[in-house]
Amino acid sequence: MSKKRVLSGIQPTSDSFHLGNYLGAVKQWVELQDSHDAFYCIVDLHALTVETDPALLRQRTLASAAQLLALGISPEKSTLFVQSQVPQHNQLGWIMECMAGFGEASRMTQFKDKSAKAGSDSARVGLFTYPMLQAADILLYQADLVPVGEDQRQHIELTRDLAGRFNARYGQTFQLPEAYILKAGAKINDIQDPTAKMSKSSGSVAGVIEIMDTPEANLKKIKSAITDAGREVTFDPIEKPGISNLLTIHSALSGRTIADLENEFAGKGYGDFKAGVAEVVVEYLRPIRQRALDLLSDEKHLIEILHAGSAKAREVASTTLEATYKGLGVVS
Ligand code: AMP
Ligand code: TRP
Repeated sequence: MSKKRVLSGIQPTSDSFHLGNYLGAVKQWVELQDSHDAFYCIVDLHALTVETDPALLRQRTLASAAQLLALGISPEKSTLFVQSQVPQHNQLGWIMECMAGFGEASRMTQFKDKSAKAGSDSARVGLFTYPMLQAADILLYQADLVPVGEDQRQHIELTRDLAGRFNARYGQTFQLPEAYILKAGAKINDIQDPTAKMSKSSGSVAGVIEIMDTPEANLKKIKSAITDAGREVTFDPIEKPGISNLLTIHSALSGRTIADLENEFAGKGYGDFKAGVAEVVVEYLRPIRQRALDLLSDEKHLIEILHAGSAKAREVASTTLEATYKGLGVVS
């Protein structure tokens, strides 16, 4: 039997991914590439939904590729590519916009949050149509699974609805994808404000652990993480959101169970616990950051990897787009 297909995407909107991106998504990408036919996309067109600086977009697209490779995405096992290098994404994106209802698109919580933040006068139309482009990203590859963080669940549901609607109206064309969302790691919170998700657009620099930050900077951030009332290191997301978030991070990186960690730190204070978490995070990220820096020093090589991936992606995408056009009755 042929392998199941996986597709996911990440926006090149900052100089560094953070631990939420890694634990919520990219760690699963790396694991799935061994058992699945994997397509991973740097979604630069999605990044254009907010104001972007050309030099920064270029730099961040390459930095995203370098970090994905450093985190363990292998170009031999996975197809790693850039969305704008595969024009079929825009082409199917339009068709998905024509499948989606205005009301259903208006209910997307990410759109509501982001447009509220931008203010309705500065929010772009692209922010509104963003989920339909995302649906195209997924459906072009007939993906079975989409590994993402919890915040993307609604977009994957919309993708399924649009695919089902198209199939019912124009004949079986698209695989219905499923979201692949792990319980632990699906939502990593800000370490200064542990009731909010860790996010590159959030205001708190001190609360976001970045892959590309220096080991010294990350050490300092974790040692200054906000803790909760009480003194016991126990997992209780309601009463102890700060400690629970740090336990989740430690457990995901060290591979140890939460119970095991609670035992180790029983009777010790929050200070000792934070030092333990810092050690695990810093040592985990140290070689990854170095590998990413090494990769970034050879842009030509990085660009070759992306070109090869995009060429493979175009083959699959063009087959799906042809079938879609045929179903729609477009004259070819
Ligand atoms: P983005 O940075 O919005 O392109 O997100 C890239 C991936 O990281 C998506 O699959 C998100 O669901 C995931 N993600 C982003 N922030 C977090 C977080 N704080 N916790 C868990 N997953 C996250
Ligand atoms: N919207 C996703 C995010 O903010 C990024 C994304 C774009 C994506 N296209 C995708 C994720 C396709 C999974 C599949 O994280």
